[in-house]
Amino acid sequence: MKVALGCDHAGLEMKNEVTPLLEELGLEVHDYGTNSEESCDYPEFGEKVARAVSRGDEERGILICGTGIGMSIVANKIPGVRAALCSEDYSAKMSRLHNDANVLVLPGRIIDAATARDIVKVWFRTDFEGGRHQRRLDKIKEIESRIAG
Ligand code: RB5
Repeated sequence: MKVALGCDHAGLEMKNEVTPLLEELGLEVHDYGTNSEESCDYPEFGEKVARAVSRGDEERGILICGTGIGMSIVANKIPGVRAALCSEDYSAKMSRLHNDANVLVLPGRIIDAATARDIVKVWFRTDFEGGRHQRRLDKIKEIESRIAG
């Protein structure tokens, strides 16, 4: 599975901490930056990753900023992206089971590396349940179509 990774300066340390785990899980990781500790703007990296997922160039994405809030706001603007901000593994699991989340957002300044790794593991190991949840995702798609006019 191809996975796009992106962060801002506040998420860089955590991005470096989760990358080896993604490789251990057998995922094909593509790094969309940033790779500098210099202050930068999260919308740039969030948009790159979210668009790559939306186009189908990447199956999933992971975005990391300080709180995860900025990256979530940006990623969920891109049609077809269902970004889930997770600070613990229950939400990560549910975001796959019920929401078929295709972008995982992590709060680099809030959780520790071990928690981030637990979240990532469960997120990649959990499949979408479908059924009534698919009907709800179809409604999200309809909203996107109405907005697009
Ligand atoms: C950067 O200082 C910080 O604002 C950013 O990483 C993020 O938390 C925004 O939501």
